[in-house]
Order: sequence, then structure tokens, then C-alpha cells
Amino acid sequence: IQNEENESQTGTLRWAARTFHNTLESPKGVQGLSYLTEARGLSRAIIQQFGIGYAPDQWDNLINEAKQASIPLANLTELGLTTHHKERGSWYDTFRNRVIFPIFSIGGQVAGFGGRTLDSDPRTPKYLNSPENPLFEKSKLLYGLHAAKDEIRRSESALLVEGYMDVLALHQAGITTAVASCGTSLTRYQAKILQRYTNRVLFVYDADPAGKKSMMAGIDTLVTEGITPFVLELPSGDDPDSFVQRAGKEEFLRYSEKNKQSFIDFQIRFFTQSGNFAQTDVKAKAIRAITHTIALIPDRIRQELYLQELSEKLGISFSSLKELLVIESTMRR
Ligand code: UTP
Ligand code: MN
Ligand code: MN
Ligand code: MN
Ligand code: MN
Repeated sequence: IQNEENESQTGTLRWAARTFHNTLESPKGVQGLSYLTEARGLSRAIIQQFGIGYAPDQWDNLINEAKQASIPLANLTELGLTTHHKERGSWYDTFRNRVIFPIFSIGGQVAGFGGRTLDSDPRTPKYLNSPENPLFEKSKLLYGLHAAKDEIRRSESALLVEGYMDVLALHQAGITTAVASCGTSLTRYQAKILQRYTNRVLFVYDADPAGKKSMMAGIDTLVTEGITPFVLELPSGDDPDSFVQRAGKEEFLRYSEKNKQSFIDFQIRFFTQSGNFAQTDVKAKAIRAITHTIALIPDRIRQELYLQELSEKLGISFSSLKELLVIESTMRR
């Protein structure tokens, strides 16, 4: 029964993705299409490749499409594509006035949806996701991986970004190793998936405090899985989408070559920017935190090399760091 249920869900997901996409390309989709192509600079080719769609500003567009296609309302409800109005006792489309990003499994099957509003009212949530279910657990998916995985393997590196638009803009520019963690902080599960494809991951999160904090947390998650993280900090206020759309591929690559940091340099910078290293307690706290990260690395030799680097960069003896490492290693277990 579980299997049959999964099959009907997969079928409905595929149908819904196709319907959102066809709507975008129909006369009903002009607003969505002009938003994507004009306001956001996406090409028809990338819209096609990633199956991007549109839900018009209407309460029953998908419901009507389902009726015409003889898809039971219950199937939509099960996937959270329709929502129940308790007082009225009726159903309405969950996604309205949004461009729709189908989220694919590694194999390229539609697993769920993310929708970005076209509404500029700050009370409207910017992004909405279809609800989680056994086929759609956001913490286990990376947006864009189905399209990026071959190039990640070939080039032995991945670019990890925050959002849908970042992945799309980078792929459109020809930087096809980009995948997104989609807002949630990077999970162990996502790090394990990445590890199957590469040992080198370049974080390019948004150049705002939230993005920096998420990269700090994400570094620990990645090193735990044996991945070597690097960090690219963008000019303040940028995200990969805004940067690459403005600067283009060549400039992005040049900037990246020039400004890519080791995770240790990024951590040192993070702590020097958030406190005064002339104060002993501030510096000590940073040393402890960075040593904690190194303690998570599942490889003794690499631990030693990073300790060496930290020792040189922060002017603290290797032997003290080594003692600290032992303490940090036992503390986390
Ligand atoms: P951002 O707020 O950085 O949005 O969130 P963005 O991707 O740059 O979007 P634009 O450029 O304003 O259109 C990064 C990612 O976090 C998730 C989405 O996956 C988004 O792409 N997110 C963000 C949510 O799931 N819900 C939200 O309300 C906001
Ligand atoms: Mn099409
Ligand atoms: Mn952000
Ligand atoms: Mn953005
Ligand atoms: Mn962003």
C-alpha cells in the first residue's frame, strides 16, 4: 500500500510541476514570466531546464486544472497543494501569485515545491514550501544537485549557496556546480550527500550577518563529514545571484580565485570582526572555537596540519593547541 501511495504521489507531483510550468507559458502566466525574465534576468532556457512554473493570483487555478485532468482533489490535499478553509468548509490553492520552483530528488524526480511571491507586501511570506512528507524532507535535499552532480564530480568541487535564485543564476552563467541548502542550516544528512560527490565545498552564502553565521555553523557540519570547506565572502549586500547577474561569469571566477579563503582564515576573520583580539578573553574564545572545529575533523594528520596553521596565524604554541584539541575532542563526545 505504501508503494502504491508513493507512486500516485509521484505522479501527482509530476503533473503539478508540469501544470505550473505550462501555466507560466500560457497567457495566464505573463506576470510570472515577466517577473522571471525581466525582473530576475532568467533565460527561457534555464526556466525550461529547471521546470520553473507559476501559480496565478487566483484561489482555484490548480483545483480547476485537476478537475479537467480527472485528478482527485484528495491527491492535491495529500501533498499540501490545496488548503482547507475551515469556516467555509471549502478548499483553495496553497500557492497563489508565486513563481514555483520544483525541487528535485538526486535522480531528477519532483519531490516538492518552493514558491516565491510576486507580492511586495512585507506581510506575505517571501518563500513558501509545500509541506514535508516522506518523499519531501527539505533537510535531506539539496536544490540543484540533480543538475550539478556530474560537474561536481568532474571538477572535484561544489559551490554551496543559500537559495533557489542563486543556483539558477549561477547555472545560467555556466557555473554548474552550484547547489543550495535552501534556507535551513546545512544538515549532517546534506553534508553526507555532498561527500558522495566531492571533498571540497566552497560556501558562497549571502553577504549579510545571517549568511556569515550560517557558514560558521555549516563549516562544522562539513568538516565532520571529512569535507574541506572554503569560503567566499561577497561584497556587502550581495548574494551569488545579484553578484553574478551584475558581474558575469568571468568576473565571478576572478573574484572567487582572488577572495576564496580557507575555513580557518574565514573563522579568524569572523572572530576578529566580532570582537577585539587585543582582549585576551576574546582571542581565547576564538582559539577555542576554531580548535573545536579542528577537533571535528576525522583525520589525525589533517588535524595536526590545521593546528600548525592556527598556531602560526594566532601566535600560540602548537603544544597548547594540541592539549586544547584533546579537551575539545572529549567534550563533544
Ligand atoms: P533569501 O532570503 O536569501 O532569499 O533566502 P533569496 O534566495 O535571495 O531570494 P530573492 O533573491 O529575494 O528572491 C535564501 C533561501 O532561503 C529559503 C529559500 O530557499 C531561499 O531561496 N527561504 C527564505 C525560505 O525557505 N523561506 C523564506 O521565507 C525565506
Ligand atoms: Mn516549456
Ligand atoms: Mn539570505
Ligand atoms: Mn537573492
Ligand atoms: Mn539571498
